[in-house]
Amino acid sequence: MDFSPLTTPPDVEALEIDLLLEGVHRRYGFDFRGYASATLHRRVQHCVRAEGLATVSALQERVLRDAAAFERLVSCLSISVTEMFRDPPFYAALRERIIPTLRTYPFIRVWHAGCATGEEVYSMAILLAEADLLGRARLYATDISAHALQRAQDGIYSAERLDLYARNYREAGGTGDFASYFTQQYDRGIVRADLRHNIIWGQHNLVTDGSFNEFHVILCRNVLIYFDRDLQERVYGLLDESLAARGTLGLGRHETLDFTPLARRYQTLDPREKLYRRTA
Ligand SMILES: C[S@@+](CC[C@H](N)C(=O)[O-])C[C@H]1O[C@@H](n2cnc3c(N)ncnc32)[C@H](O)[C@@H]1O
Repeated sequence: MDFSPLTTPPDVEALEIDLLLEGVHRRYGFDFRGYASATLHRRVQHCVRAEGLATVSALQERVLRDAAAFERLVSCLSISVTEMFRDPPFYAALRERIIPTLRTYPFIRVWHAGCATGEEVYSMAILLAEADLLGRARLYATDISAHALQRAQDGIYSAERLDLYARNYREAGGTGDFASYFTQQYDRGIVRADLRHNIIWGQHNLVTDGSFNEFHVILCRNVLIYFDRDLQERVYGLLDESLAARGTLGLGRHETLDFTPLARRYQTLDPREKLYRRTA
């Protein structure tokens, strides 16, 4: 992989990126214009190289004419780094503080907004199964990236990843036999069928799509860090609109509801793990 900088002057490249994002929005309706610029610029440069091109303008030409190139750009701009039981204390807090309150609900709807390749969703399915609540739950798992969603639905993880996930699971307070949640196939594990039954996968764009249900728990972790402030506020509004009264919102470690217009309507359940309860 060639990591040498592109030779276009930075101000021209910034203009080219603006034009690319404008073109993508007008042609495909996907709006990346509010994504935080430093990461976005790096990802676009990466995509230019991956396509074997020399400039962002050349990428724009290809993407506007070729829907498959557009899909590759979306994958490139979607940072889908994730783990099962990522940030184990977050899942320990979910297990200890949130799962018991869900016992009182006859039916549980959870939304994983920005689910990437599915690890967060399967972690929640395991937590609910261990509490004997999975049967009355529906997990709605959405992402902008069709490619990530396909991998999520496949639910196939390598042995090395599963070793890491098993450690995370134990650190999160898991005491079960983690390996038993997977069917072994050569050096990979496939998520067991009964853990997938109640998961509904779908493409949803947090920037342009609206609310589609009312949820008791929403996890939107490590997605908003890639958005600028205006876009974050829009998405917080969407999450708020989609959350039932007394529902729980879980964010990533580097995300916060503090200092947003919504803060006063939420009680902070765990300031470190960014768990909030809607009070009104
Ligand atoms: C870093 S991953 C986070 C995965 C998981 N929530 C976690 O914390 O491990 C960010 C995900 O957000 C998705 N994403 C980015 N922009 C999005 C948007 N506008 N709408 C929905 N998902 C988006 C990306 O495709 C990516 O899969």
